[in-house]
Amino acid sequence: MPNLYPIARPIFGLLRPEAARDVTIWCLEAGLGGLMVDRSARQPDPSPRPQYGNPKPRVFRLRGDGAIINRMGFNSRGLPYVLDRLRERFGRQGIIGLNLGKNSDTEDAAADYAEGIRSAANLASYFVVNVSSPNTPGLRDLQRRDPLERLLGRLINTRNAMNSKTPLLVKIAPDLSFEECDDIASVALEYGVSGIIISNTTIDRPANLTSRTTNEAGGLSGKPLFDKSTELLARIHVLTKGQISLIGVGGVATAADAYEKICAGASLVQLYTSVAFNGPMLVTEIKLGLAELLKANGFSSVRQAVGTRSAAWMGANVRADTAFTSLRHPETPILARARSGPDFPMSPGRRAAS
Ligand SMILES: Cc1cc2nc3c(=O)[nH]c(=O)nc-3n(C[C@H](O)[C@H](O)[C@H](O)COP(=O)(O)O)c2cc1C
Repeated sequence: MPNLYPIARPIFGLLRPEAARDVTIWCLEAGLGGLMVDRSARQPDPSPRPQYGNPKPRVFRLRGDGAIINRMGFNSRGLPYVLDRLRERFGRQGIIGLNLGKNSDTEDAAADYAEGIRSAANLASYFVVNVSSPNTPGLRDLQRRDPLERLLGRLINTRNAMNSKTPLLVKIAPDLSFEECDDIASVALEYGVSGIIISNTTIDRPANLTSRTTNEAGGLSGKPLFDKSTELLARIHVLTKGQISLIGVGGVATAADAYEKICAGASLVQLYTSVAFNGPMLVTEIKLGLAELLKANGFSSVRQAVGTRSAAWMGANVRADTAFTSLRHPETPILARARSGPDFPMSPGRRAAS
């Protein structure tokens, strides 16, 4: 199918960002782009009760930077609405991940996540415990060791009590200290989470952003997030010794970006902002380009390439077009142990730094 998005792009540009996103998801639902997305994807992480989220405007395009700043704040029609949509599509083909959120006025966050797991135990293909949105006050504190242990312990018990094997993943922020990375990796290994999604948006603002709306509050996504989220991905891959599936997300806009996420340690790749800018056919382009890149680099499957450049990504492999200075990967005791362990799967990179 020809890519009609270059023709449609000026029309998308006239739409407010939230409306443009809805149209893009509608295109993906219709099968454009070689990826099926269910309508429930239009809903951000459902909170148990409906909530409006932050006042509009709350999404800002930073077109020149290939980035978006959003402060949606879990606007949600609530869990019952999402459950209805999931029941409607039950039995149809496709993988449906359900990102779980909490209501902004809930004190017991775990209770909100647990309600999501209990009510959708057999309706979703996997759950994502989102503890990394910067737009819900206090949410990111759940990434610290003690709260994370309590949260995951309770959620895994809830899932098991439902006699469900639905995989439970955690989505983390890119703005973590090295100690927090160590803690997340060891808690994830200890509790046997099925996967980690790396990463959500950043509250950092690289110095080289040029857009007018750079100083809007919220999470920054897109191109300027690529290096930071990929370095974190590599670090978590090393810390978890390749024993936990990682989903790489943050600034993927080309097949080469997706390839780098895989080489840094991702078994799966997600993208959001670049689809908003380039349209749904981008997914097909990336899949075709990725297959070529894997082949050209001597890999016969994605699996073979996973983590082959995690060492390089933990070094100083930062692209010149970004200006994050926060990540410099010092050796922490846990990382040193992970590196020297006998089961450490990292092999030398095959591809020179881009
Ligand atoms: C407008 C907007 C809304 C988002 N809403 C959510 C959300 O509800 N839950 C979530 O886990 N991540 C949310 N994200 C974060 C993305 O899923 C993704 O982690 C992040 O944007 C980095 O990927 P990207 O650079 O490909 O956009 C949102 C991002 C944007 C731009």
